[in-house]
Amino acid sequence: MNSLANKNVLLGVTGGIAAYKSAEIVRHLKKSGSSVRVVMTESAKEFITPLTLQALSGNRVSSELLDAEAEAAMGHIELAKWADGILIAPTTANSLARLASGRADDLLSSITLAFDGPISLAPAMNQAMWSDKRTQENLDSLISKGFKVCGPGSGEQACGDIGLGRMLEPIEILELFSSSFTQGAMSGKNVLITAGPTQEPIDPVRFITNKSSGKMGYSLAEAAIESGARVTLISGPVNLETPPNCHKVSVETAKEMHEAVMHHIKGKDVYIGTAAVSDYSPVEVKNSKIKKDGSRSPLNLKLKENHDILKSVSGLEERPYVVGFAAETDGLIENAENKLKNKGLDLIVANDVSNEEIGFESDENEVTLITKTDQQLIPRQSKKKISKKIVEFISRRINEQNN
Ligand code: PMT
Repeated sequence: MNSLANKNVLLGVTGGIAAYKSAEIVRHLKKSGSSVRVVMTESAKEFITPLTLQALSGNRVSSELLDAEAEAAMGHIELAKWADGILIAPTTANSLARLASGRADDLLSSITLAFDGPISLAPAMNQAMWSDKRTQENLDSLISKGFKVCGPGSGEQACGDIGLGRMLEPIEILELFSSSFTQGAMSGKNVLITAGPTQEPIDPVRFITNKSSGKMGYSLAEAAIESGARVTLISGPVNLETPPNCHKVSVETAKEMHEAVMHHIKGKDVYIGTAAVSDYSPVEVKNSKIKKDGSRSPLNLKLKENHDILKSVSGLEERPYVVGFAAETDGLIENAENKLKNKGLDLIVANDVSNEEIGFESDENEVTLITKTDQQLIPRQSKKKISKKIVEFISRRINEQNN
């Protein structure tokens, strides 16, 4: 937590039972060498007194938006200018909703609007409130705007329920918060990744798909986030947990994936197409289940070609660094090189999927990174390790391009 030394940290405390832990957070921040100012919501004062936090931080605690005394010294704009980082712990469901909607009707929410540095949130709420769709949508919207989320953890809650929603322990929160101040290789970069399979419906109960589990794309998303990037993950149907601090958009068909990519591509520095996108989809989707009928054998299915998402991205006037994957059962390098050229890519990751122990569904992979000028084999290892190497490779390339 060395990165917290000499930082001005604004700690926001909102009204939940976990507010009592904010005293310990202030203590740890001070120990790490940060200057701390605390801003409390009105309801937070029901759980812990401003006097406690004032004594621990050594600074007056603020809570009034319209406070004549504060306006002369540390009003919302001054506090926003003073802070290097904001941590809101605990963040209640209500505060999440208010932040997501951009409200500015109390001091804390106004400061977050006026502030343009890193903001971390440590959610704390009942498990049912946490899993409610509206809370998850608010969270997703905040992540997509660059907020970092620390936790929550799982376990027994103050109300007696058991599940996700407990605020993390202060030391865990501060470890995550401190990473806001460390510069990863992809720090400040916006990355769009596709993952998983697509499903092309034939009738209401059948579809064409493939064996992609999403593991490669999800571990790439994780690796990019760990190196400081802001990641949007457009995912086909998979059975995987969304990585923390990742803005996920769920799609089913190749058409939906294409639309989602084109919607989110603006402002991205890197695009990585890991998804196994169906090249074809049925010309006609039947409204009712196709019945077995001996007279219709063989049953013909007419397919049309889907848009090539990679080509659409690489053809953009303001294009990001474009990375494709090539899943090949034969002619690995030659076919991958053709895709690099035909799809106008900066990098292609050649993936031999003839070996069933790697590639599709497996936790491991072996790939070759191919650009116009060089080739680099990443021998068989976990998809997590391979992802870190791919992210390092990409960050080196984009940093070279920018210098
Ligand atoms: O998900 P996992 O189980 O972890 O498996 C990982 C993986 C094997 C799916 C992954 O490593 C991989 O190789 N992904 C690419 C799969 C694929 O569809 O390859 P392709 O050679 O058919 O397509 C080449 C590239 O074009 C891919 O980047 C693909 O995303 C892209 N594409 C394809 C069709 C299309 N209509 N639009 C596209 O953008």
